[in-house]
Amino acid sequence: MGFVIAIAGKGGSGKTTIAGLLIRILKERSAGSILGIDADPNHNLGDVLGMDVSGTIGQMLDGISSDPGTIPAGMSKDRYIEYKIQTLVQEGEGFDILTMGRPEGPGCYCYVNNVLRNTMGKLVKGYDYVVIDNEAGLEHFSRRTTGSANVLIVVSDPSVVGLKAAERIHGLVRDLKIKTKHNCLIINRFPGPADAEKIKKTGLAYIGNIPEDGIVRNLSIEGGSVMGLDNDALSLNSLRKIGEKIWGSN
Ligand SMILES: Nc1ncnc2c1ncn2[C@@H]1O[C@H](COP(=O)(O)OP(=O)(O)OP(=O)(O)O)[C@@H](O)[C@H]1O
Ligand SMILES: [Mg+2]
Repeated sequence: MGFVIAIAGKGGSGKTTIAGLLIRILKERSAGSILGIDADPNHNLGDVLGMDVSGTIGQMLDGISSDPGTIPAGMSKDRYIEYKIQTLVQEGEGFDILTMGRPEGPGCYCYVNNVLRNTMGKLVKGYDYVVIDNEAGLEHFSRRTTGSANVLIVVSDPSVVGLKAAERIHGLVRDLKIKTKHNCLIINRFPGPADAEKIKKTGLAYIGNIPEDGIVRNLSIEGGSVMGLDNDALSLNSLRKIGEKIWGSN
């Protein structure tokens, strides 16, 4: 059964970077099979992990709705979608990724969401670790297509505005009744913890901070992958310590 780590936070807080770094750290720990799910329609987890995304679930669904004839005779729509989702899982070196994307076409996706929910549930169970990079609005969580999580990580800067956003995201998760066992906070791009009182107000458990890391910043400017990051990069070392708390919180 997959240990699911869901990453949330306001735009630009560092979700994708942290998702990529966590996948790298899980890989170096040889902890088992790893699936990264990019649940942000504006997807870039593939880039951060140095992979070319060959297709998204959104594109696949668009293809089916514009040409239902692509479903082979004798195969139900559900089975076909399930099969197609499996073909969209891309193999990296030591991990797989799946990119959700977003269907562009008109129409109601309620039916499709049901199929997605079931298929994603089965897929997640097949991995030891699943890391989900969410968009700020938690769309896939609200549609229940990415299910529950063992650990929710909200990423924030230490500012009052940032922490208020983290508190709102935590509230949204509670309102949506998304099942998360541990709700944690990481302060990103800051040398130490934020103000304890302000952290307390978020209702999240503070599990550590990641300092501003010039190598990560340059990597994103040059378009490199976190897999190529120096082994002793500041961000990696901080996240290794934080990681121990994450996998320790079973
Ligand atoms: N600790 C860090 N040190 C330096 N740069 C960082 C750090 N964390 C993130 N960044 C940089 O900040 C930018 C935003 O990070 P990232 O894309 O991970 O955020 P995000 O929350 O996924 O954004 P979005 O909401 O657009 O998906 C990137 O250029 C990234 O390289
Ligand atoms: Mg992102």
